[in-house]
Amino acid sequence: MEQNTQDSETEVIAPQSLAPHPFAHPSEAEFAKILDFYGVRWEYEPRSFRLRWDGERLLEMFTPDFYLIDLDMYVELTTLKQSLVTEKNRKLRHLRELYPDVNIKLLYRRDYHRLLAKYGFGPLAQEEVPGIERVLFSTNQIQKRVADLGREISLDYAGTQPVLVGVLKGVLCFMGDLMRQISLPLSLEFMSISYFDTEGVDGVRITKDLDGDIQGKDVLVVEDVVDTGMTLNYLLNYLSTRKPASLQVCTLLDKRVRRLVDVPIKYVGFEVPDEFLVGYGLDYMERNRNLPFIGILKPEAHETLEAPGAKD
Ligand code: IMP
Ligand code: MG
Repeated sequence: MEQNTQDSETEVIAPQSLAPHPFAHPSEAEFAKILDFYGVRWEYEPRSFRLRWDGERLLEMFTPDFYLIDLDMYVELTTLKQSLVTEKNRKLRHLRELYPDVNIKLLYRRDYHRLLAKYGFGPLAQEEVPGIERVLFSTNQIQKRVADLGREISLDYAGTQPVLVGVLKGVLCFMGDLMRQISLPLSLEFMSISYFDTEGVDGVRITKDLDGDIQGKDVLVVEDVVDTGMTLNYLLNYLSTRKPASLQVCTLLDKRVRRLVDVPIKYVGFEVPDEFLVGYGLDYMERNRNLPFIGILKPEAHETLEAPGAKD
């Protein structure tokens, strides 16, 4: 995250819009805020392009407002004022002729969300999603990683017909995407688990069991997130009593720092920090499962987090 500020030597951890920036227009500050929310890295006016010159004498330059590092794209923001738009379009046309490898877009205010949605940062038409601190993984990042996992699993399980066992409901999106990236004949099973706390003793109970027999089969447990590892540990113990030929685990998210029980996990999508995550199937009290990305829940939105019972 190279910045044109005096602290460009130090690592920038805070959202970039918190750093002082000489934005020329409030819409630029707003755009920067949206980019920060969706985790898209940006630089403000990092480069000027020469458009016209006469020998040594520079006659015209163009400095796009933003460079979006991950998308390798320059963005020039514009208003609805037609005279300005015509002039900017002329400059952009000229710039593209001179620098054909440079990717630059002219964006109207209403286009912000459309552009971000196109690159997997969504959802459409929302600047910031209420209750969400920021996006941790965009749709695009998730899809890429899931495709990698699917490829790896397809190779490792070549010649077999694995049974994917998902734990409801959080695994819904991940299972749906992952199975379509596995190029093998496979079957699906789902289990449900509920958590209870009687007289200070935490426990796990199966509320929906397997439909079929897994004896002698190659079983791959698919999880959304492994946190303390308690659920998975219970599940693996249970499944191994059903005598599968093999038993492995694939989790999209691994919150390793929170682990209490050491469980073997063969495939991990992303290792994640100790934050409460929602979206892409993951919920907080049944909400936010339908977000197309994985986001960090605002701390104030889950002060009752430690209360038992709401996990699935
Ligand atoms: P564990 O038994 O502590 O590993 O808990 C795993 C279960 O807790 C997961 O299957 C989730 O349902 C839930 N869980 C843990 N962390 C999160 C989170 O960050 N967001 C949503 N659900 C979570
Ligand atoms: Mg779960």
